[in-house]
Order: sequence, then C-alpha cells, then structure tokens
Amino acid sequence: MNTVLSGIRSTGNLHLGNYFGALKNFVKMQHENNCFFFIADYHSLTTHPTPADLHHNVKQVLVEYLACGIDPDIATIYIQSDLVEVAELYLLLNMNAYVGELERCTSFKEKIRKQPDNVNAGLLTYPTLMAADILIHRANQVPVGKDQGQHLEMTRTFANRFNRLYKNEYFPQPVAYNFGEALIKIPGLDGSGKMGKSEGNAIYLADEPEVIRKKVMKALTDSGPTQNYQTKPEFIENLFTIMKAVSKPDTYLFFDEKYNDCSIRYGDLKKQIAEDIIAFNAPIREKIIALSDDAEYLRKVISMGKDKAKASASKTIKEVREIIGFKHF
Ligand code: TRP
Repeated sequence: MNTVLSGIRSTGNLHLGNYFGALKNFVKMQHENNCFFFIADYHSLTTHPTPADLHHNVKQVLVEYLACGIDPDIATIYIQSDLVEVAELYLLLNMNAYVGELERCTSFKEKIRKQPDNVNAGLLTYPTLMAADILIHRANQVPVGKDQGQHLEMTRTFANRFNRLYKNEYFPQPVAYNFGEALIKIPGLDGSGKMGKSEGNAIYLADEPEVIRKKVMKALTDSGPTQNYQTKPEFIENLFTIMKAVSKPDTYLFFDEKYNDCSIRYGDLKKQIAEDIIAFNAPIREKIIALSDDAEYLRKVISMGKDKAKASASKTIKEVREIIGFKHF
C-alpha cells in the first residue's frame, strides 16, 4: 500500500480551485492508500497571522476537509504543529539544504517580489519544511498541483542527499500523484490565471448563494462571437472550464453550441454557472455550517489524527536520529 501525504496551508477559506485541484483527489485516494492529510499551519506563519486568525484558519481548513468528504476514520487528518517531529526533521534537513538552491526556488523568488518587506528565513526554507512534512511519514505519493512540482523535486533532492550522506536508502523518492484523470485547473474569475486566495478571484466553498451570483456576474466578458466556431478568448474559455466542472454535460454542450452559432448571451451563461456552482456547493456548505458548531467532534477528529500521525512521525525521527549518529550516554 502506498503512503500518501498532502496538505493545504491554512491561510483562508478553501475555494473551488482547491476542491477540483486537490480535495476531490484526496477523497478518492483515501480508500486505496494509507493517507495523511494535514493542515500546514507552520507554513502559514510566513505571513505573520494574529493568534486569533491562526486558530480560525486552522479550524476552517479542518471543517472544510471534513465537509468535502475526507473520512477521519479512514485517512489521518492532523495539524502540522501538533507534530514537533516535523520541526525537528526540518532542522536536520536544513543542514543539508544549500542556500543557493533555496534562493533559486521559483516560489521564493515570487515571494520576494510580492512581499519585499518580509523576506524571512521561513520563506527561504519553505521547501525544507515541505520536505519534512513528506519525509516524516516516508510518503511516496504526494497529490499536488503542477505549481508544487519544484518543491517536490527539492524534496527528492534532500531525501537523496540524506541517503547518500549516510549510505542508507532510508527515504523513498516521493512523486506527485493524481488519481487517473488529469487535474482540472480551475481558472479565476478575472479573466486570466488560476483561482487563488491571494488573487482575489476565488469562489469559496463556504460562499453564500448571493455572493456567488455577484462574483460570477462580475466576471469579464465581451460583446460575443461574430463568426461561427470562433476560438474562445481566454476569459470566455475560463467560464466554460468552470462550467465543465460544476454543470451537467448537457448544459455545457448547450452553451457551447450557442457560442459556436453566435447566439449565446453571456448573461444567461453566467446565470447558469452561478446557479450550478450554488447547487454544487450547497451540500458542502451545509456540512461546513454544521461542523463549525460541533467543537466536540472536531476535537475528537484532531486528537485521533494527532495520535496516528505522531506514531508514524516519532518512528521516523527515532530512526533518523540513529542513522545520523545521535547516541544515548
Ligand atoms: N506548499 C503547499 C501549497 O502551497 C502546501 C504544503 C505544505 C504541502 N507542505 C506540503 C503539500 C507537503 C503537499 C505536501 O499548496
């Protein structure tokens, strides 16, 4: 059986892009693999949340994991900061991570550009913390989107380097994984790029129907096609991509044909997309609302997950310490 691990940073509510790009896969994978799904709260500290926000965001991701269908009796759901072993492995891996390679990491360069006033060492060593997350359970499959490809490659580099240094094939080579079909990348509503929390173009799983209608109706369109079978501009293609994810195939075909014979009315298209997103979100949203008030259940899930994750993590740390040469007196 494969050991699967993935996590989402707790920096705000989850959106449709998270669902179709990650969570949908997590839910499918849990039945066939030994799965660990965690909430990356250490990672969220790079942007210095207030104590209240930190906790609120962790709770939100937990509730949303559960609402989307991750079953805590099958998969292990835990909070990153519940495992001090992760922090220890991170420290140990940092000894063999070179500043040069960390500085060359694309996500680090992007952060420098986006937050030049807060280029902290945690940002630089983000890839070693992520490697520690994965290697602490010696996971071999990591369901993540394309944007995490470089981080995963660095994880393999750190694992390899450790194995070579200590002449011990201890860590596996984790690979990106998805469940058969290609992951759908959900575009944002602002015409370009992917849906993202920081992009301000996201529809959240917890959004109220009225909010969804407003957001979708504001999406960029133009005056419409003028020639049959005209190629769709990117911002229209994006709306169709969202429709493909949330609407019935017939609905998609109907609007695609209308586009192709130039009879489409974008107002109708957007209304349909909004209603289909609302219908798609409804059962998840209901669960989010119910779970948010169930403190006792959440506490139980987290304590169960912590115990299971801790057992796996402490075994790894014990073995890593032995391999490195820490000895008792
Ligand atoms: N870097 C990932 C993201 O931004 C989150 C993450 C942290 C992660 N540690 C991980 C994902 C370990 C998979 C495995 O989406």
